[in-house]
Amino acid sequence: MTKISQNGLEAGLLEVQTERLRLRAPNEGDAADLTRLLDDWNVAKWLARVPHPYQLADAYAFIEYSRAKESSEYDRNFIVVLGSELIGGVGLTGETAGVLELGYWIAREHWGCGYATEAAAGLIGYAETTPGCARLEANYQKDNLASARVLRKLGFRVCGEKSIFSLARNRDVSSTCVFLDLKH
Ligand SMILES: CC(C)(COP(=O)(O)OP(=O)(O)OC[C@H]1O[C@@H](n2cnc3c(N)ncnc32)[C@H](O)[C@@H]1OP(=O)(O)O)[C@@H](O)C(=O)NCCC(=O)NCCS
Repeated sequence: MTKISQNGLEAGLLEVQTERLRLRAPNEGDAADLTRLLDDWNVAKWLARVPHPYQLADAYAFIEYSRAKESSEYDRNFIVVLGSELIGGVGLTGETAGVLELGYWIAREHWGCGYATEAAAGLIGYAETTPGCARLEANYQKDNLASARVLRKLGFRVCGEKSIFSLARNRDVSSTCVFLDLKH
């Protein structure tokens, strides 16, 4: 079951607890782990905004960017933690609360254990408690069959196709667009 807590006076300390995972705000102490896990072509090539190679400076820039967004109720990045280990990232982005885009990645050694589905389900629970958030969208590269499966398991439906620029590939890639209308 998903539990959502605002565990401090400071904005940005929102946490989401799922059965096995904790989703929390990124901090400087995550930079080395993020660099090690994201500097993997088999992860980066499927993501839009992750450069390859991925360097420590990229991780610090991501952490700083995430912190700047922490006062937003809806536009947030989370680190995925299993026990005490950083195993991935999930996030919601959007200009307004109405429609938010879901993104996620899991470190390669943890693929196939249901963690992406569980973390994304936790964020869907969080989005459902966010006033005015009516719909989530996501985009996956056409041959990203694992991500297509994750989104299908979560109830997303295909609504179209578009070309999205991939930083790692340094070119546009053909992507499938999916959406999920939220229950409030
Ligand atoms: C996509 C990704 C997040 C999945 O993480 P994960 O923790 O392994 O996902 P889950 O275990 O929750 O679910 C994966 C599902 O895809 C299925 N799958 C994996 N590889 C597959 C393939 N080649 N073809 C079809 N299905 C596949 C798994 O069997 C599982 O489905 P099941 O539960 O019905 O058996 C992970 O592979 C990843 O980080 N990839 C790189 C980054 C990325 O693609 N992010 C998403 C961008 S849209």
